[in-house]
Amino acid sequence: MERTLSIIKPDGVAKGLIGEVIKRFESADLKIAAMKMIHMSKKEAEGFYAVHQGKAFYGSLTDFMSAGPCVVMILEGLQAIAKNRELMGATNPKDALPGTIRREFASNIERNIVHGSDAPETAVFEIGYFFSALEICG
Ligand code: CMP
Repeated sequence: MERTLSIIKPDGVAKGLIGEVIKRFESADLKIAAMKMIHMSKKEAEGFYAVHQGKAFYGSLTDFMSAGPCVVMILEGLQAIAKNRELMGATNPKDALPGTIRREFASNIERNIVHGSDAPETAVFEIGYFFSALEICG
């Protein structure tokens, strides 16, 4: 069993895709071990994406991520990190395979509907950024 962090970004929430995204996770045997809706401040978005500090898109990305509510979730299952990334598709929707969340719903590389942890160490940091042990079921 593995855990990963998933975010339905402000564009996904605004487009009414919370149910659609969660249905895809549950249909792929990813269980939701924790979930909440939050509206990040600019500082909180900067902290979450600190690894991208200094990149050209950092300011715009953190503006976007703090512009509206997100749904943050912990997904749990066999190879949850890889499975979630497969369901999401490539970061840039132009490169994402047909049938993936980003290919079907994303507007562009920044407004790409969902975020998912990319490695076990990242998942530990990202889960701890949003959830305390008491908030995690399972
Ligand atoms: P995400 O999986 O949340 O991880 C970092 C985010 O930065 C990524 O999805 C995109 O939304 C965004 N991103 C990555 N590369 C670029 C880029 N070249 N231009 C704009 N945004 C980017």
